[in-house]
Amino acid sequence: MTAPDAKSRIDKLRTTIQTADAAYYGAGESIMTDAEYDRLYAELAALEIKHPEFLTSTSPTQRVGNDQTAAFTKAPHRRPMLSIDNTYAADEVRAWVERVQKTAADGPLAFVGELKMDGVAAALRYDRGALVAAITRGDGVTGDDVTVNVRTLKSVPLSINYAAPLEVRGEVFMSFAAFARINAALTEEGQRPLQNPRNATAGTLKLLDPAQVARRTLSFSAYTLLSEAHTATHLENLAFMQGLGLQVALHSPALPDVDAILDFCETWRTRRHTLPFPVDGVVIKVNSLAQQERLGATAKSPRWAIAYKYESERAETVLRDITVQVGRTGVLTPV
Ligand code: IVH
Repeated sequence: MTAPDAKSRIDKLRTTIQTADAAYYGAGESIMTDAEYDRLYAELAALEIKHPEFLTSTSPTQRVGNDQTAAFTKAPHRRPMLSIDNTYAADEVRAWVERVQKTAADGPLAFVGELKMDGVAAALRYDRGALVAAITRGDGVTGDDVTVNVRTLKSVPLSINYAAPLEVRGEVFMSFAAFARINAALTEEGQRPLQNPRNATAGTLKLLDPAQVARRTLSFSAYTLLSEAHTATHLENLAFMQGLGLQVALHSPALPDVDAILDFCETWRTRRHTLPFPVDGVVIKVNSLAQQERLGATAKSPRWAIAYKYESERAETVLRDITVQVGRTGVLTPV
């Protein structure tokens, strides 16, 4: 194959793979079989080895870079990453809706309910269509630059079809399946198992070896867009991010009133247990971005959002037995 032919084939393969990733993580659709995907990916990787002159950092093969170790320098946030006021009481949700209605009383309000994934918040920055940085929340003003590790997440597109600078905020989290798999391996190696998926996510993001991060298969779901894109509502922002190939937080359609909001809160109290990842509550947000702006924020949290959390399910149990497992290397682990 001539160099120009190889270049055009490489471009074609990258576009096809990126389109498949975007459809899978954005819209939740498979546009090809896994086998077809693997075949195209292998073809691309082979061509890039033959023609290293065409390698780019946004190629789907470059999620784990060469010889990279994570450095975790501090990075300032462009806008503070706030947290949300929490409540466990339906009455407080009611009071919040009334307050919001009074403050933003320029017409009817609509709300959006979203799942609150239990992971670690992160901000992804894109510029000229390429992922350029991923930063943890940190103290809200400065976070850790975990770009090399976040690049390994399959649900984070390395390139998007949008040239202007843009920031996407969302949650990095671990599925229960990944958590169980990692703990089985740690136990087998005689190491202490991880406590819960949220701690496991935080620990994984700080690993020094991106290849090891890739094997732990973290996920990312977006819930905030900071950009010059001219959208009017939060729901439009979610659709916009989904269109870029990002996975967005599971959410409701527009909720018109407090009854619809409380219904959403109650429905997910039990339904969350059918999901393959940890959810510790729901977040209710004002849909109109103009109304969000008018409501503004306190030093700590925006007035346009409230988190309704579910009590963590702890119960007293009886310890019946302890068995001692023998690992491959002869290490004894009490289970
Ligand atoms: S919105 C300013 N939406 O919960 C509001 N947060 O304190 C920005 N979280 O730090 C956050 N799911 O890590 C939002 N659908 C969701 C979320 C969500 C999880 C986390 C986030 C935030 C914390 C709330």
